[in-house]
Amino acid sequence: MALTFSAYLFQEREKVSWLNDEAILLLGEIASATKEIAGKVRKAGLLGILGSAGKFNVQGEEVQKLDELANEILIESLKNCGKACQITSEEVEECLVVSESGYAVAFDPLDGSSNIDVNVSIGTIFSVHKDSVMKRGRELLAAGYVIYGPSTMLVVSLGNGVSAFTLDPESGNYLLSHPEVKLPEKGKIYSINEANREKWLSKGLREFIDYLKGEKYTLRYVGSMVADVHRTLFKGGIFIYPADKKNTSGKLRLLYEASPMAFLVEQAGGLASTGEADILDVVPSELHQRVPVILGSKWEVNKCLEFIKGEA
Ligand code: AHG
Ligand code: MN
Ligand code: MN
Repeated sequence: MALTFSAYLFQEREKVSWLNDEAILLLGEIASATKEIAGKVRKAGLLGILGSAGKFNVQGEEVQKLDELANEILIESLKNCGKACQITSEEVEECLVVSESGYAVAFDPLDGSSNIDVNVSIGTIFSVHKDSVMKRGRELLAAGYVIYGPSTMLVVSLGNGVSAFTLDPESGNYLLSHPEVKLPEKGKIYSINEANREKWLSKGLREFIDYLKGEKYTLRYVGSMVADVHRTLFKGGIFIYPADKKNTSGKLRLLYEASPMAFLVEQAGGLASTGEADILDVVPSELHQRVPVILGSKWEVNKCLEFIKGEA
């Protein structure tokens, strides 16, 4: 049988200095919370938990019932395991400070909410810092996501490469299915919401997208960051959520979307930029701050930056 996530963590302890029993317990709790979320997602239509919860969150977005449920499951798991000193969620305005030191966890409990009711892949994104969430992504201890797709997959990095696990419905274990995820140097897919094209603040970005079309790239855009990044990690290419006239700092949140995904992409051999700096070098100033996201294969990200800087 393939390695379970727990056995993998114990094996990685030899190579990852910060990975002690407490960290292993924390990561195990996050993984088990996502299994509970997966169970709810997979039969949401039978539990009456589709649709809106009838409220708006700090982001000004309408909260879906599954957003709220996933949020409650993760917060309870983290509180019960007692290893998180800070808990930050997309769905909670303030950072929940539990203690002075320990592991600071930031998460998007359910990413891709607009896709919940139409049965399209959604996910959970998480990041783990030491002591405080308000640190650069470069200092992350770990980051990962779970994609609730045709199969439920946990993709994680402890700072020593990227591994992927597939949830085995029979045993209920996350089993190691992709020991080393490496982003192709170059792909053939670009992923961006072109409906916003005329609103993008960068003319160079429009020229870059036109250039890719000339190079016969294909467009794939799910509208769940987890799904678009997962495809990019495995097939290469580029995913972009740029700054536009409506979202002048972009739409995606630094602490629990851009930063963890940038950590994974860099660990898998790709690049992740705001268009001006590496996402991992952005020093957080606000809990729910947003940044533009350009991530994926090195070739495409560098080419995009050339166009944006007018150097192409
Ligand atoms: P969330 O559901 O957690 O609010 O995140 C949705 C995000 C992200 O998943 C996706 O990349 C982006 O919204 C899609 O935005 P558009 O619908 O504006 O393209
Ligand atoms: Mn999200
Ligand atoms: Mn969300």
